[in-house]
Amino acid sequence: MEFKQAVGNRRSIRYYQPYRPVEKDKLQTILEAARLQCQHGNAGLVRKAVVVTRGETDDAIREELIDALYNQPQATQAPVAIVWAIDISGWENLRENLLNLIDAKALTSSYGWSEQFVEETVLKTPDFNVLAGDNTFAEWLSAIEMGLAIGSALLAAVDLGLGTQLLTGRRDQIRELFGMPEHVTPAQIQIVGYPAENPDGGGQRPRPPFEDLYFADTWGNSMQRDPAVVEDLRKAGMIQESAPLPWRADEVRALAAMFGLPE
Ligand SMILES: Cc1cc2nc3c(=O)[nH]c(=O)nc-3n(C[C@H](O)[C@H](O)[C@H](O)COP(=O)(O)O)c2cc1C
Repeated sequence: MEFKQAVGNRRSIRYYQPYRPVEKDKLQTILEAARLQCQHGNAGLVRKAVVVTRGETDDAIREELIDALYNQPQATQAPVAIVWAIDISGWENLRENLLNLIDAKALTSSYGWSEQFVEETVLKTPDFNVLAGDNTFAEWLSAIEMGLAIGSALLAAVDLGLGTQLLTGRRDQIRELFGMPEHVTPAQIQIVGYPAENPDGGGQRPRPPFEDLYFADTWGNSMQRDPAVVEDLRKAGMIQESAPLPWRADEVRALAAMFGLPE
């Protein structure tokens, strides 16, 4: 699938085919897409996940995860849940990872990168060595990096013809359930499966206007968008019809009947 189409097709899918498992190669591809996203200093062991799969993971664990997700019905329907978590201890590898980037010729001597520069400058500058002070900066960056990884994982799922969605849950309960140490924080749960609803979810969900989000030259000075580009993006499938499409209410009624849920 073209990138623009994948971006345009993504929806938070809230109804899944409970009987249809996700192929292992597809699941692996989703995880790889997250692994390859960029990270500050390439500190690689910050973003981790536990994969919970219906029929493989102990039923009791899966059921408690669903409980921790406030029993949202789609958590029961989707066969896979990826429990994304931030491991703040991953920052301890910053030095080696920077040196690896120098070896890989990503950080180059033309820009002054060397082992000595890492030791004497980077690791002594709080903005780069995020653990030089307290953990606040590392936590902030980790959350950004986790979001980047999850963003890629969501688009990878769409690219593979799957439905996916992020769910919020009780973090302490999830940490305890999986035996995560104190330095690990459950971030967000990504459910994955085949959609039971139309994958277009009844249209693209509301977003604020472009001009309210982006500014030119100074804060508050709306950036104008080019209608010709909007038209091109419509043709490429990135900008799609806004929700709700005319038949969506009937679809939601039919889905409710199918899953025995209230309308
Ligand atoms: C961090 C995060 C947590 C979310 N948690 C939930 C959730 O617990 N339950 C839910 O139904 N949707 C959840 N969502 C989905 C949003 O509600 C969704 O992004 C919104 O409906 C916009 O629709 P779209 O994703 O289909 O474009 C979450 C989204 C994000 C980014």
